[in-house]
Amino acid sequence: MFDKLDQLQDAATSAVAAAADEGGLRELEVHYLGKKGAVTELLKGMKDVPVADRPRLGARANEVRNAVESAIATRRGALEHERIRRLCDDPDFDASLPVSAPFATRPGALHPLTRVTAHIEDVFRAMGFLLLDYPEVESEFHNFDGLNIPPTHPARDMQDTFWVETPPGQERQLLRTHTSTGQVRTMRLVTPPFRAIFPGRVFRYEEVDASHEHTFHQVEGLMIDRKVSVANLIYSMKTLLSEIFERDVVIRLRPGYFPFVEPGFELDIQCQVCGGRGCSVCKHSGWVELLPCGLVHPNVLRHGGLDPSQWQGWAFGLGLSRLVMMRYQIEDIRHLLGGDLRFIKQFSPAAATTTTTHTSGA
Ligand code: DAH
Repeated sequence: MFDKLDQLQDAATSAVAAAADEGGLRELEVHYLGKKGAVTELLKGMKDVPVADRPRLGARANEVRNAVESAIATRRGALEHERIRRLCDDPDFDASLPVSAPFATRPGALHPLTRVTAHIEDVFRAMGFLLLDYPEVESEFHNFDGLNIPPTHPARDMQDTFWVETPPGQERQLLRTHTSTGQVRTMRLVTPPFRAIFPGRVFRYEEVDASHEHTFHQVEGLMIDRKVSVANLIYSMKTLLSEIFERDVVIRLRPGYFPFVEPGFELDIQCQVCGGRGCSVCKHSGWVELLPCGLVHPNVLRHGGLDPSQWQGWAFGLGLSRLVMMRYQIEDIRHLLGGDLRFIKQFSPAAATTTTTHTSGA
């Protein structure tokens, strides 16, 4: 057996060294190392070897396998090198030409969240909004206290939080539960009057299901000026949403409670799918809840270093995941961050020409 292994190693390494091309090398690889290859076949004879010799034989067989593997890797590198050198020497070879089928890879696609975010950013920038970006790991102050949510406030329970381990004595850190963290930051950063948006990822300690994710996306908007009214807020939201949906939208406000705005509202839009007549998307109500908003609470202005007798503001928090799902009729939020290529492929330029971009069957 030991002799046979030696012979096998010799035969294999010289055949590999003599392999003329990459195809031939591949055949040798299968012949010697494949599931039914020579090494495996030889080891079938193991049962006839005295038990005491078997461990040594097993070790030697592994050596042979490793030696053949490394001979193949070396030869493969050399053959590839030769092939590339030949190509480079070929005066007709042009490395800058586009790759032709069947070697061309599929065209890439932007994730629907990326597309919608880019569109929203365009709309806001055209209307004079600053585009700002803030940390995902945040202080407790920016996420809660600065937004008029003290530790004992029941609103803290509304947002189950991922806390980050923080050394004792340092301010507690967390994964931001909303993009509202940017409100006080922006007030301290930019001299008013200003208007700004800050899109980003937010995190909540949630049970994941078709409509809940632990990671999702929001766009926060904030405008600070000398005089800001609810009428002004309504007008701005309507204009923005018409731009985003690229058509006139009908909206309505309901009272909503958020500690950092007073008054606070839930803004609904008339269902874009059925036009308000009632369908499964709007649960037959004709309306879809889209964004909470309101006039900035005086305490938040104070935390931002602004005098509430001098400055007022409005703010809104737009749930991007919800918007993307509505726009592309995606029925399960888990598709968005699931990483399944079959999902994103539906948004490639080729797929965009078809009418079905939803994810059934993905
Ligand atoms: N930050 C809130 C949340 O994620 C949403 C929100 C409500 C943002 C009202 C606002 C606002 O700017 O005015 O639940």
